[in-house]
Amino acid sequence: MPDGQDKIRRSTTEDDITAAVLARFSATPDPRLKQIMLGLIKHLHAFVKEVELTEAEWFQAIEILTEAGKMCSDKRQEFILFSDTLGVSMVVDLIGHRKPEGATESTVFGPFHRLGAPQMPRGGNIAHRDTTGVPTLVSGRVLDLEGKPIANAELDVWQTQSNGLYDAQDSNPNELHMRGKFHSDGEGRYLIRTVLPVNYPIPSDGPVGAMLKATGRHPWRPAHIHFVLTADGYDPVTTHIFDRTDPYLESDAVFAVKDSLICDFTRHETPTPEAAKLGIAGPVYTTEFDFVLKPAGAEAKTDVHDAQRRLAALGAR
Ligand SMILES: [Fe+2]
Repeated sequence: MPDGQDKIRRSTTEDDITAAVLARFSATPDPRLKQIMLGLIKHLHAFVKEVELTEAEWFQAIEILTEAGKMCSDKRQEFILFSDTLGVSMVVDLIGHRKPEGATESTVFGPFHRLGAPQMPRGGNIAHRDTTGVPTLVSGRVLDLEGKPIANAELDVWQTQSNGLYDAQDSNPNELHMRGKFHSDGEGRYLIRTVLPVNYPIPSDGPVGAMLKATGRHPWRPAHIHFVLTADGYDPVTTHIFDRTDPYLESDAVFAVKDSLICDFTRHETPTPEAAKLGIAGPVYTTEFDFVLKPAGAEAKTDVHDAQRRLAALGAR
């Protein structure tokens, strides 16, 4: 019998198969790809053996992945939802953004960022079409690790409308709403007009929703506003700010809450002077949050813009 056939016939146990697959990938020329492939095979095979996956369950996994792929469009990214709800996005975030003490912590990017948010002046209203939310002013400064202001930092902001839906999920999915790009002034200050953020369920009409339901989990995210901050000479940060009163802070469906990102939204029954200047007549919420950026490391700026560009490109395919 030829040598090759002899070897195949000897690969009869579960562990023999794992060893054979690892051996087959061991000649991968790129060292990082080799590390990833060998780690993936090792853990994937160990998982299948640990749970003793049945053929029916294996087929169900194929069906789930197929359904997830079919749900993806320029308005929906089911695989990011899987990553987020399985906690993988936050593990990747924590590995990639080990910040020095004092720098603003990052959190998940999520699937709802869109390119092309309009440039807004100081105090610009990202919620101009939202007629039901309570006007809210978010202000603060962008600072370096020494507390010095960073001028002309860009704050790319996005949020759900007060109905809990992002623009892409609502009736005019092609119109941008609840998004804007702001810049810090010479003293590092910024001012954003929006509506009070609300908690909302992540899309649960697909395989991610089925997983949450079958495992006794809820789909809710605590009220938050998304930010990507970029400034020349500093590492960008992708983050949220959260409302301290939200009942889902402890059980965010995507595990994204960090203590340092929780803010107090204060209600004023009559407009503050700043709110009055912007033409707000009734009750208004205000909150303040200072973003602290660390000096640029290698390639970081590429990463954040790469994530934005790649998410947009996924939808265009
Ligand atoms: Fe969100």
